[in-house]
Amino acid sequence: MEIIENQSLKALNTFGVDVKSRFFVELTDVKTLYQINSLPKPHLFLGGGSNILFVNDYPGTVIHNNLLGVSILKETSESVVVKAMGGENWHQFVIKMSDAGFHGLEYLALIPGTVGAAPVQNIGAYGAEVKQFIQSVEVFDCEAETIYSIPCHECCFSYRDSLFKQEKGRYFIISVTFELLKKVAAKVEYRALEHYFEDQGKVLEDVSMQDIFEGVVSVRASKLPDPKEIGNGGSFFKNPIVSKSKAKELHDKYSNLVMYPHDIDKIKLAAGQLIELSGLKGKYVNNVGMYEKQALVLVNLGGATGGQLWAHAQKVQEQVAATFGVMLEPEPLIL
Ligand code: EPU
Repeated sequence: MEIIENQSLKALNTFGVDVKSRFFVELTDVKTLYQINSLPKPHLFLGGGSNILFVNDYPGTVIHNNLLGVSILKETSESVVVKAMGGENWHQFVIKMSDAGFHGLEYLALIPGTVGAAPVQNIGAYGAEVKQFIQSVEVFDCEAETIYSIPCHECCFSYRDSLFKQEKGRYFIISVTFELLKKVAAKVEYRALEHYFEDQGKVLEDVSMQDIFEGVVSVRASKLPDPKEIGNGGSFFKNPIVSKSKAKELHDKYSNLVMYPHDIDKIKLAAGQLIELSGLKGKYVNNVGMYEKQALVLVNLGGATGGQLWAHAQKVQEQVAATFGVMLEPEPLIL
């Protein structure tokens, strides 16, 4: 295992923040996991670096998951069980599955990051969450120093949350096993997708999973900046979940607020809309701001530090709290 000192993380985080890690290891072999407890602490497990904002240099060891490979474990006429290693690129994996006729993940196309990062925050988009397709997650448990698989129902998945996010640093995700279907009726439950198909002159009942893939890629590309061009980490805040009474209070004041039912007694608000209504959409200071096409995305237009990005995010939190009495919670890990 080669240990690199003072490794730049600029190309390893999608905000493009120029920070260094004191120590850095490229993990390409599962056997090496048994040695990681001897590396200088703290440890950070890094995938595509798309859900992390580095405010400071990392003082310990960054362990980059570069475990690769995709294999079919079981196949029937209706479904397939596929294991993908944690370091695989998420979008490339989605393409591979969709092209092979294994469906479901198309709703999650173009999400930056890796397969191993997908369960950590239970990635979700266009009416789907990755937990729906996960059978199990294979981990190295750093406390027990053993490898085992955690079945989906024990991963504590919820909106942008999981066991892996809650117990930070305990589990290194080796691989994820998915169950995908060969025949799936495409569901278009999302307004932006509906509009896309209407514009294409498509009847919603005739939409295929290939169409879903193309629709999702097109809708995402129209609103979300490509991290290769503009530094960002996707949605910077979670959509806030409030009580029904708080939602009613807000609705009485601002009748145009978007509200979705969440669980039985809660309401989910659109953080992007709250930010836009607070007047912060597309306002950039020192190349930092909330993106002009989707206010939920904090962007680095070039050269910003993690500290500047985080300071701006905190200002947004303050302003939204002052206007709506709702505290936005960041989605990425802030380090
Ligand atoms: N809205 C505004 N102004 C904005 C942005 C959004 O008014 O600047 C309104 C929209 O008009 C819409 C509502 O807010 O009525 C929801 O917006 P959108 O459809 O763009 O989705 P979102 O709730 O902002 C979530 C996910 C995205 C995911 C999309 C599509 C979270 C935190 N974000 O965004 O996930 O792609 O839905 O399903 O749940 C990510 O996590 O990085 C991410 C991009």
